[in-house]
Amino acid sequence: MTDPLARFSRFPLAHLPTPLTEMTRLRAVLAQRMNTMPPRLFIKRDDCTGLAGGGNKTRKLEFLIGDALEKGCDTIVTAGALQSNHARQTAAAAAAAGLRCVLVLFDSVPYDGLAYRRSGNLLLDRILGADIRVEPADADAGAVFRRIMAEIEAGGGKPYLVPVGGSNAVGSLGYVAAYLEIADEIGVRGFGASRIVHASSSGGTQAGLVAGRMLRGAGPSIAGINVYRADNGAMTDDIQALAAKTAALLGCSSPSHDAVVLDGAHLGARYGMPTPEMIAAVACLAREEGVLLDPVYTGKGMAGFIAQVVAGRHADVEALVFLHTGGMPGLFAYETEF
Ligand SMILES: Cc1ncc(COP(=O)(O)O)c(C=O)c1O
Repeated sequence: MTDPLARFSRFPLAHLPTPLTEMTRLRAVLAQRMNTMPPRLFIKRDDCTGLAGGGNKTRKLEFLIGDALEKGCDTIVTAGALQSNHARQTAAAAAAAGLRCVLVLFDSVPYDGLAYRRSGNLLLDRILGADIRVEPADADAGAVFRRIMAEIEAGGGKPYLVPVGGSNAVGSLGYVAAYLEIADEIGVRGFGASRIVHASSSGGTQAGLVAGRMLRGAGPSIAGINVYRADNGAMTDDIQALAAKTAALLGCSSPSHDAVVLDGAHLGARYGMPTPEMIAAVACLAREEGVLLDPVYTGKGMAGFIAQVVAGRHADVEALVFLHTGGMPGLFAYETEF
């Protein structure tokens, strides 16, 4: 079979395929709570993509950096919150490709704590050599980007803007590739009906997975856990629109609105703010499986995954795959929670 992604520029960054391992101890713990056996539980280790701490953005950045290089750009500009995993992986990807990197970090999460402002991803951004610009939460993002792009051009550089989370159609190709990787492995291992569950934020991961399923025509279904926006309906609409753009780029038909399943019950007060369920989920995975999650994305994602399994929401499938999208450096920023 020819690779449907071969025609897109791609700069290799990730260690692929990432492992898909079974969580037998978590399954036993949940079986006790449910008084019945849940589906088999697996974890897809995209925290092990290998680039400077790993995570889901590495897959997206293979296509985004590929595009930047093809366009002859020499400086990557992107944005995120102070503890953005996306910013850290973008800084590493730029370094690996020999490009400069400007990170615009918005001080948008009202989380108190010295470590939040110094350690975790922010410390790694510095070590990776990024040019870090911290902006207040209410800064006019458009004006900030225009200023930085103009500054780079005035210095003779050629900037390439990577959107927040790497979530445009080009970035989402990384999760089209991931969907094909997961579906192939599930096929080889002979699982029956299966589903992928993951934390969803800027939406490129979910959009790519959904578009990958359209490309394949069949395979594991996808269920996102919203860790980002209070308006779950608007976020679902935006992910569907991005999945449609990604499908158009691939030349396959557009996913329906129903293809985007997003659970809005696990966000808590707001993005980046801890919940008791997140803390319990991080501790549970660490102590039962020896797997480290993160406080902002995969901890809340796993809290949702556990709640859904215990509520019997996935009784229709044989195998459930939790997609571990990374973020472990964030634990250090939230040290006092643990
Ligand atoms: C660790 C981690 N998990 C999940 C996500 C969500 O991915 P997406 O923004 O593609 O929805 C992010 C995004 O920053 C992340 O850093």
